[in-house]
Amino acid sequence: MVTRGKFVRPREPNELVPKDYFSEIKISDYFVTDCPLEIDLGCGDGKFTLEMAEYYPDRNFLAVERLLGRVRKVCRGAEKRGLQNVRVLRLESLYTLEWLLPESCVDRLHLLCPDPWPKAKHHRRRLFQNPFLDSVVRVLKPGGELLFKTDHDEYFEWSQEHLAEYSGLESLAWPNDAFFYPKTDFQIQWEAEGKRLQGLRARKATS
Ligand SMILES: C[S@@+](CC[C@H](N)C(=O)[O-])C[C@H]1O[C@@H](n2cnc3c(N)ncnc32)[C@H](O)[C@@H]1O
Repeated sequence: MVTRGKFVRPREPNELVPKDYFSEIKISDYFVTDCPLEIDLGCGDGKFTLEMAEYYPDRNFLAVERLLGRVRKVCRGAEKRGLQNVRVLRLESLYTLEWLLPESCVDRLHLLCPDPWPKAKHHRRRLFQNPFLDSVVRVLKPGGELLFKTDHDEYFEWSQEHLAEYSGLESLAWPNDAFFYPKTDFQIQWEAEGKRLQGLRARKATS
């Protein structure tokens, strides 16, 4: 059950509902096995998470999404495919990183096609800036990775600059054939419109 005042909503299959939204969660309380953990922030309809979870049954995947309709779709998609290694959290991305996840628990963190907030007066809403990077470093294990993709050239440059000036993460090359990496729903839609995506990959120092 998800309760808020008198409002009660049945928990979706595979939905991660924290026992307490104001304390760090214990990851192992919510997954069947203790495996490397990957997070998909703003997972949308979940194609990426579900394909990754199918391909890597020995890794756990936590999809984070604020819209209930999308959360439901991913939860039901995981159930339909019989995936034991997917959990879906309906919550705001930065709050999840800053307050809910324990320190050094994540192996890879994916931020794929986030809103670029193109107008200058909205740039402060962009996720890819220092408070986000601080929280990424907090939750990543040493050697853990951040993977980011956008179709928006100016947001890509902005993110590149923030990453270059940020000392807690080191940039890595990301050739197309580096590893299995399925396309997301938005990526497919945008590539069909002739847009090109650019990506960044960075690693938390091991010491
Ligand atoms: C442009 S879509 C990309 C979805 C997916 N990553 C993909 O590439 O297909 C961005 C998604 O992030 C979600 N989102 C935006 N801001 C968020 C936030 N602060 N916390 C959680 N989810 C967020 C939106 O609801 C939406 O589903």
